[in-house]
Amino acid sequence: MMYDTIIANGTVVNADELKKADVAIRGEKIVQVGKGLAKKALAEQRAGGPNGTRIIDADGCYVIPGGIDVHVHLELPFCGTVSADDYDSGTKAAARGGVTTVIDFAIPYGDDSLHDALEKWKKKAAGKACVDYTFHIAVTKWDRHKHEMQEMVDAGFPTFKQFMIYAREGWQADDAAIFGALEKCRELDAMLLIHAESSRVLDELIERHHNEDEMKRLGARLHAITRPNFIEAEAIQRAVTWAEAAGGRLYVVHMSTAEGTDIIRRAHKRGLDNVFAETCAQYLVLDDSLFAKPDGHLYACCPQIKKKADQKRLWQGLSDGDVCAVSTDTCTFTREQKAMWNGDWTKIPMGLPGLETLLPIVYTHGVRKDRLDMREFVNLVSTNPARIMGLYPTKGVIAKGADADIAIIHPKRKFRVDCEQLETNCDWSPYQGWDLAGFARTTLSRGKVIVDDYTFCGQNGWGRLLTRKSAGNP
Ligand code: URP
Ligand code: ZN
Ligand code: ZN
Repeated sequence: MMYDTIIANGTVVNADELKKADVAIRGEKIVQVGKGLAKKALAEQRAGGPNGTRIIDADGCYVIPGGIDVHVHLELPFCGTVSADDYDSGTKAAARGGVTTVIDFAIPYGDDSLHDALEKWKKKAAGKACVDYTFHIAVTKWDRHKHEMQEMVDAGFPTFKQFMIYAREGWQADDAAIFGALEKCRELDAMLLIHAESSRVLDELIERHHNEDEMKRLGARLHAITRPNFIEAEAIQRAVTWAEAAGGRLYVVHMSTAEGTDIIRRAHKRGLDNVFAETCAQYLVLDDSLFAKPDGHLYACCPQIKKKADQKRLWQGLSDGDVCAVSTDTCTFTREQKAMWNGDWTKIPMGLPGLETLLPIVYTHGVRKDRLDMREFVNLVSTNPARIMGLYPTKGVIAKGADADIAIIHPKRKFRVDCEQLETNCDWSPYQGWDLAGFARTTLSRGKVIVDDYTFCGQNGWGRLLTRKSAGNP
């Protein structure tokens, strides 16, 4: 049997099983997973059989399905600027981090229809993307966009997004729109992603603290002071209530609080299987003491980084299965862009780089610290995202018939994070100087090696636009 590539001698990890096996690839697909495939192919070659199978030695390494980051913003116009990682740098960063699929958000601006937004985002990615990608579609003008959701589902985009905040950007959805969107998602076999923060009280708190004296004294700490945990928790509770009443599938994005995790757990305990929540790597390892640093404004993202107690609860939620995925919410802004704040925290472009360090953070701080085992790790960064977003079993698993999207990671080899060495366009990193294991030694995207010896070797335009039939149906 002729193969193009065999990944030999590694420990293959899926969400349900970890085993020593070889992985054989033909074209873009995995065609065999089993013992001794490389040995057999080499013996056949020696006996004059078909030649040319590339053997990638993964001895001593984990061989995992490529990471799937279901929450990224590449080249996003936001907070008066445009996020600095585009489909070139962003997907190169993804590849180096072992992420082989990204899901971005197509967001309508002005009078854009959902179709217009989708076309704009397709253009951003075309010819640039180095890994596969697809889009969630933001519903920002309910009265108009509700009539366009069916068209998006028919086109292969069954995940929608609403924001409870961001009136200034023209993105905010009110309760009626959220309730209506959940009903619509039930009807369309689709899923609603929600940015859950309570805007009324948040705006009130921002207003109260928005004065020269406090800004001088507290600087970027006001970003955290004005977003106490109840801002997120109340909004998550409300969204879950609407999902329970409307019956539509709900996916809470970038959940950052212990209270939010408790709400999701209670929902699951009372049998709600239509409610999902992700967290992001930054909420698992960073805490709000960072805002007191001289460059604390760099760390502003939305929702903001919380406390150590929240980290602890989120890790617990991941291992209990209540928090179903870890993403990044990559929304990169350089030091120059962040400097737009000029002492006023309401003007900081909000967002962090993250794609390149997603797997290393979760691996190093999850698996290496015994918070997760390897199968749980794979489940949280690949299999669950694939299942929930409608990409499984093409993505998210190492099995016959799946796309050959694979990351090979050494269990112990660490790299010191240095933004200068990363693929991201960011000139700083929240993890600068951290020693992290779990970077991809080798990444394959649909059978093609795009990272070799920790170095990107793929090509722009290789990444393919993915479509999906339904979502929230794991
Ligand atoms: O700070 C963030 N998260 N920026 C991107 C927009 C969002 O809310 O996801
Ligand atoms: Zn958000
Ligand atoms: Zn986001």
